[in-house]
Amino acid sequence: MKKNIGWFDNRENAPGVLNSVLAKDVQALNGASTEGSAVVMESTFAMIVGLALGFSFHWKVSLVALGCVPFMILGGAINTKFQSGYSNIDEDAYREANLLAGDTILNYRTVASFGHDYLIVKEYDKMVEAPLQNSFKKSQCIGFWFGFSQFVQNAVFALLYWAGAKFQVDQGTQDGANIFIATFAMMFGSFAAGQANQYGPDMGKAKKAGSLIFSLIDLPSKINPVDIPDDSIPVTKDFKGEIEVRNVWFRYPTRKEEWVFKGLNLKIMPNESVAVVGESGCGKSTLVNLILRFYDPTEGEVLIDGVNIKKYNLRQLRQRMGYVM
Ligand SMILES: Nc1ncnc2c1ncn2[C@@H]1O[C@H](COP(=O)(O)OP(=O)(O)OP(=O)(O)O)[C@@H](O)[C@H]1O
Ligand SMILES: [Mg+2]
Repeated sequence: MKKNIGWFDNRENAPGVLNSVLAKDVQALNGASTEGSAVVMESTFAMIVGLALGFSFHWKVSLVALGCVPFMILGGAINTKFQSGYSNIDEDAYREANLLAGDTILNYRTVASFGHDYLIVKEYDKMVEAPLQNSFKKSQCIGFWFGFSQFVQNAVFALLYWAGAKFQVDQGTQDGANIFIATFAMMFGSFAAGQANQYGPDMGKAKKAGSLIFSLIDLPSKINPVDIPDDSIPVTKDFKGEIEVRNVWFRYPTRKEEWVFKGLNLKIMPNESVAVVGESGCGKSTLVNLILRFYDPTEGEVLIDGVNIKKYNLRQLRQRMGYVM
């Protein structure tokens, strides 16, 4: 709401894209800042307690388990790496498709009146075809590495049981209970570390989402109807409404190669009715856009009651005007 209208004209800020930012990226950031940090904290403590229990009950088995932790973390890391790579590719691939879907739904009546529904469905199908193929290949890869990380977990269990049995046979001791406690304490500690790792892709996504969201929020708006500067002139009751367009040059920020106005001069007195007539695309709506300050002139100025409209309180100025599309 704080952005200027020209900003929304950019294709990368189209409603479909902004919608997807609000729906997906904001959620990703939220997930990492609340649930994500909770899980990281939970698993850190689980790991500390697991290590303490393991070493106090049977330090030898725990040492063997500790030696396996790098493999378990590696398994988890490979797994997360593939998953995060997977989501990145999809996001970019779907961006174009989201844009098309968003624009179509917003302008559904126009699309329907031209009978272009089937063309858009075809185009959409084409846009999601590449990500589909990609996902298929990727999913097999992810399946393999997920299986691998499960294998590592089971292999570690097998190794610990084997090592525990060997310690007993070699030393002729009967401390099976301690070995079990140590084995399980260490395994649950490692699981917890793996779990923190599982949040890896979310953290990566959240970082990407965060930088995207904050770059949108922090980008200064050229015309801002929400944050009104303190030194702006209030539009009071004795506002007369004398409009003057003085030597205005204007071109749209997204269409720099074409001037709409080349030195336009126009004065409209209060209570005067003026009709602006011209062929389609000659700049009638653009004139209204400038008076409402949807855009600022590239050169020259628009004055109301002899004051440049940039100096007025923008919200009050727009509230004082009626506009029928
Ligand atoms: N948001 C925009 N971004 C880029 N170019 C634009 C934008 N809006 C209008 N234009 C271009 O500016 C020129 C003037 O358009 P404008 O809408 O002011 O014409 P108009 O006189 O109101 O036409 P119509 O009678 O069809 O409403 C046209 O060439 C148009 O394509
Ligand atoms: Mg128009």
